[in-house]
Amino acid sequence: MRYEVDFLVIGSGIAGLSYALKVAPYGKVCILCKGEAAEGSTRYAQGGIAAVMYDSDSFDKHIQDTLVAGDGICDRSVVEMTIREAPDRIRELVQYGVNFDKSRAGDRFDLHREGGHSEFRILHHKDNTGAEIERGLLEAVYSHPNIEIKEHQFAIDIITQHHLGQRVTKHTPDIECYGVYALDCKTNQIDTYLAKVTLLATGGMGNVYTTTTTPIVSTGDGVAMVHRARGVLADLEFMQFHPTSLYNPAEKPAFLITEAMRGAGAILKDHKGNEFMHKYDKRLSLAPRDIVARAIDNEMKIAGVDHLYLDARGIGKDELINGFPTIYAKCLELGINITKDMIPIRPAAHYQCGGIKVNRDGESSIHHLYAAGECACTGLHGGNRLASNSLLEAVVYAHNAAMSAIERVKSRQLCHQVPDWNAEGMVLNEEMVLITQTKRELQELMWNYVGIVRSDLRLQRAFDRLNLIFRETEDLYNRSVLTEELSELRNLIACAYLIIKMARARRENVGLHYSIDLV
Ligand code: FAD
Ligand code: SIN
Repeated sequence: MRYEVDFLVIGSGIAGLSYALKVAPYGKVCILCKGEAAEGSTRYAQGGIAAVMYDSDSFDKHIQDTLVAGDGICDRSVVEMTIREAPDRIRELVQYGVNFDKSRAGDRFDLHREGGHSEFRILHHKDNTGAEIERGLLEAVYSHPNIEIKEHQFAIDIITQHHLGQRVTKHTPDIECYGVYALDCKTNQIDTYLAKVTLLATGGMGNVYTTTTTPIVSTGDGVAMVHRARGVLADLEFMQFHPTSLYNPAEKPAFLITEAMRGAGAILKDHKGNEFMHKYDKRLSLAPRDIVARAIDNEMKIAGVDHLYLDARGIGKDELINGFPTIYAKCLELGINITKDMIPIRPAAHYQCGGIKVNRDGESSIHHLYAAGECACTGLHGGNRLASNSLLEAVVYAHNAAMSAIERVKSRQLCHQVPDWNAEGMVLNEEMVLITQTKRELQELMWNYVGIVRSDLRLQRAFDRLNLIFRETEDLYNRSVLTEELSELRNLIACAYLIIKMARARRENVGLHYSIDLV
């Protein structure tokens, strides 16, 4: 099938949905998502969204906290712009129907505090803020007559001049995006979507690693597509590991224990129940994430254990049950009463700070291709994202991209010369085990060699092993009918390659990139 739209959006998380709502008055919008519409990291966000809403806080303080967490390599002008725009974007979310918790009197937002923040500035909805944002935005999108949302449509590749038979390299100056090819996961057909402008809002790549808080759809598809289309990517060595995922080895994705719990007074403890953060940072359990995750990793390695603890018992029963109902219920299900028991935790891959390089309008290096949300690299996070700045970045850049796309679409024609996908001569690969086993190998090698602590030797090993996995998978790809699983595997391999390549090139320990050879 061939489809033609003005605005094509890949992804239905906070970035894709908020962009779609803004461009919808100016043309036909189609949102593709590879799973169900609500599935993505957005709905799992717990802590909330950071913004300066009252005079007790200031833009300067939020800017400073973001720059400090980013370890000196944020783009200062981007940080300033994003943080100053935050209150307007929050008010829009509220207008779309998103509810944030209010104070008892109901006149102010109730604000939480998280690691690296010098003030209470996290707007939240109990401990399930992302689910509330996703609900509010999806309802607004479903009721908009110009927006069509199509589930189980897997974007495979960005269409560029390459598909018109022209040679495209990373030095080609004017690579253009004409839309995407997408696999309809129900019919197994590959459809052609032609668009005047396209937004990638495909989220993160946590599934490159064995243990991750991100959902199964987070396989770095947007980044991998841009890599194949020869677009510019940046900062992928900065994978953020959240210090406190619930230790429950069989569960995928790993369930998050929000940092807001540490903001409310929960304390990290070692396997014997002793505090240890004083050995690492004077901000103790509320130090920025990179420092806390490394400290936990180190303590686990010294003691030879596979988890430590978060002690929330000091917070008080009422506050725990009412303020963190999702975590309370989840732990209880596993026999852990958080008002009485310490919570077993370990770090998990959580957020990719790098991604598709975009300018302040969300434009990638490929013309008519925008990116927003976790798949984009704006310069806001530098070497390490400050907690709750991700949802914020997503709405700010979705807005900027929308304003720019609305202008671009006016003078843009669809490219009707694009051919349909050619699957001739391909056979259905019957051996799923080839894919599932390779994916497991990839995740393990990334976890063991390219995780929280790296070294030159580990990165070299990872690179060599990845090379083999890459060759085997490309061979499979060249002879098989394309499936979602194979496509995701190729994308994970591409992301792993980019993380390793950028990690090897980074010759200093900064932010989330830490190598024992660079100490
Ligand atoms: P997502 O919400 O991940 O959505 C991605 C979308 O892209 C999905 O619809 C998916 O189906 C679609 N997609 C992907 N690939 C394809 C493809 N090939 N074809 C078609 N569709 C595709 N950040 C904060 O600021 N505050 C928090 O409190 C917070 N808590 C978090 C808690 C957890 C457990 C996790 C995992 C993350 C948390 N984060 C938080 C990070 C934040 O939630 C994410 O960075 C953010 O939600 C990403 O939004 P997004 O719109 O970019 O992508
Ligand atoms: C959390 O609630 O701890 C996650 C916040 C974030 O990832 O920004």
